[in-house]
Amino acid sequence: MKVGFMQFSPLFGRKEENVERVINSLRGAKADLLVLPELFSTGYLFLNEEELRRSAEPISDGLTVSKFLELAKKENTNLVFGIAERADNKLFNSSVLVTAKGECFVYRKLHLFDREKRLFSPGDKELEVFDIGEAKVGMMICFDWIFPEVARSLALKGADIICHPSNLILPHCQDAMVTRCLENRVFAITSNRTGTEKRRKEEFTFTGRSQIVDPKGRVLAQANAEEEKLCIIEIDPLLAKDKKVTPNNHIFEDRRTDFYLW
Ligand code: ACM
Repeated sequence: MKVGFMQFSPLFGRKEENVERVINSLRGAKADLLVLPELFSTGYLFLNEEELRRSAEPISDGLTVSKFLELAKKENTNLVFGIAERADNKLFNSSVLVTAKGECFVYRKLHLFDREKRLFSPGDKELEVFDIGEAKVGMMICFDWIFPEVARSLALKGADIICHPSNLILPHCQDAMVTRCLENRVFAITSNRTGTEKRRKEEFTFTGRSQIVDPKGRVLAQANAEEEKLCIIEIDPLLAKDKKVTPNNHIFEDRRTDFYLW
């Protein structure tokens, strides 16, 4: 199975350009699963809720989702990407999976990072796992990495691959994801963005280093901190079915849930 990420620096507020740029890069990519960064079509540093609301889109007929549904069908691929979602009167930081079969599934970021709490509603949907044929995939977004319960829940629900659209600012996630993969025996594709956004007095630089990690904690591929990169590699998703660390240790069955708080 061929999986990958696209790392780049979106232009703030220029949705059509960002979407077209990615579509042009992904045409002919010949991958089974590709992951894009968090909020890839809008950029990150919204000044206020009104500005975010103008950029956010409904899942049913928003520009990004519609174009990516078309692309996934045409290229016979599955795509995961972060968008600003408008649903009724609420705004969510969401990750969308569109499949080659024309299906569309949504995850809404559960753990909002810092200033995101002023802009978005926290996720209100269950963590789910979706069957794309060759593997089962789950989604989490950026700062969700610091809550090990998220990756654990997805793994317990059967995820082989965790798709992880990101706009990382802190330096720890790439290393932590090695542990998330090791402790759950899953693959993870962290698709991070690069570049700096400066708006009024705020400035964020994103850390790049998008990566693909396997169930043994090996980093199979990693971009550097600044480059634009479409990276596609071959993996065997069946490796994630083996939950044994030693012949006598099963990562799930050995858990002592009677001694934990959750
Ligand atoms: C983040 O969750 N975008 C840091």
